[in-house]
Amino acid sequence: MSKARRIQIFDTTLRDGEQAPGFTMNAEEKMQMAQQLARLGVDTIEAGFAAASPGDFDSVREIGHAMNGPMITSLCRTHFEDIDASAEALKGSPNWGIHIVIASSPLHMKHKLMMEPDAVLESSVRAVERARGYCGQVEFSAEDATRSEPEFLVKLFTETVKAGATVINIPDTVGYTTPTEYYELIDRIMNDVPGADQITVSVHCHNDLGMAVANSLAALRAGASQVECTINGIGERAGNASLEEIVMALKTRSKLFNLETGVQTEHLYQTSRLLTQITGMSVQSNKAIVGANAFAHEAGIHQDGVLKNPLTYEIMTPESVGIKSNKMVLGKHSGRHALADRLRELGYEVGGTELNRIFKEFKRLADLKKTVYDEDIEALVSQESAGQEGRYVLRSVNVSSGTHSTPTATVEMEVDGEIKRKACFGDGPVDAAMITIKEITGSRCSLTQYMVNAITGGTDALGEVTVSIEDGDKTATGRGADLDIVVASAKAFVSALNRLALRKARIQSL
Ligand code: KIV
Ligand code: ZN
Repeated sequence: MSKARRIQIFDTTLRDGEQAPGFTMNAEEKMQMAQQLARLGVDTIEAGFAAASPGDFDSVREIGHAMNGPMITSLCRTHFEDIDASAEALKGSPNWGIHIVIASSPLHMKHKLMMEPDAVLESSVRAVERARGYCGQVEFSAEDATRSEPEFLVKLFTETVKAGATVINIPDTVGYTTPTEYYELIDRIMNDVPGADQITVSVHCHNDLGMAVANSLAALRAGASQVECTINGIGERAGNASLEEIVMALKTRSKLFNLETGVQTEHLYQTSRLLTQITGMSVQSNKAIVGANAFAHEAGIHQDGVLKNPLTYEIMTPESVGIKSNKMVLGKHSGRHALADRLRELGYEVGGTELNRIFKEFKRLADLKKTVYDEDIEALVSQESAGQEGRYVLRSVNVSSGTHSTPTATVEMEVDGEIKRKACFGDGPVDAAMITIKEITGSRCSLTQYMVNAITGGTDALGEVTVSIEDGDKTATGRGADLDIVVASAKAFVSALNRLALRKARIQSL
């Protein structure tokens, strides 16, 4: 067998993924995700759309300057302002590029852009030339390529490559194509665009008909050398092609594909978990590779087979994607050392006061719960001292509720160092706790999202709550985990209020 061809993984979780409703991340969260994607070994991270807002600009700039491995790109339309903003955000970064997009299908050109094809061609060439004036890596994408005239696509790519594009991308923007059809399109572009073999040919698939991964794999077999995808397949509408599914298909069926990536697959599960913790959006339990049941064998006949030989029902090992099995269970007798070791195994390098905080929370949890699972530990890490740092500190929350009583909460907090206490009624115990916290802090924010996730099975599962709040044009997300859902909710709410206060303070100091 010849040497495997290397495929570039272009991750767009922070741009196409983040753009989907419910997946908004703040700058800190995007940075956390970017660091994890770098650890995972992706080749390119699309950090955002610098011209979209000052917040996006800052986040693209911070990620670009902090990363010293994967290439960081920012998306632009063909407008010069977009290209200038991306270059301004990324110049001085160790490894960066510019990604330009314009629609090429008759439908989009006529009804969305209201431009003639010649004007689209002209604008694309000017945009690529301008971007090349700033940097050596320029990707050109023909949006809605799979519904475009193939002759026009060939012309557009030929001219943009002449203008200096180093990557041409052929997106299936609306998830319309099929594997055979996409294979033929990629094959045609590779053959008909002069110099296509000297540059990177990229594919980008959406999942509207559930074929994003299959289409991406077909395109790679046709000769494409870059695939654009997202963690957990998040993205516009039905999402993008899922990174973990593409990478594991190439790895598990390596003899068939003879293609390889630079992804360290043992980090896949943790990357997926980090994203669900940040966004509060979990994956369905039967999701391939990272779902809770992806490696669970329920039927007796399957369990028997797996015990005799795991290959009977497992085409890849849980360890290969970072799901650890047969490890020692942590409980109330485990010490700081064992916890620090497990944190390291899970990919968290924590020490000092952060480790002290996690250890304290771990002991409290272990006292209440016999077994503390990895997912519980990850939740303790990710809740970032929820409700314990910032302007507001949650000291205690107590609620009374039941079939014949009005839900009432009594909350004690520190506000700028001053102790405050209040009790209020609500429509339910969580509502009562949140109303009381709002009374104490004087916040006028409204709750835009509230999600509870049971981290592990059973009635003693740790509950992880994610809340999003809005105050005028400012939004913030907070997370909290606890065995008690009301306490987890209060922690998440206070954490969101602290983040909102921080954001307001930053804006005032600009
Ligand atoms: O789906 C799409 O066409 C895109 C482009 C920006 C590549 O996301
Ligand atoms: Zn897309």
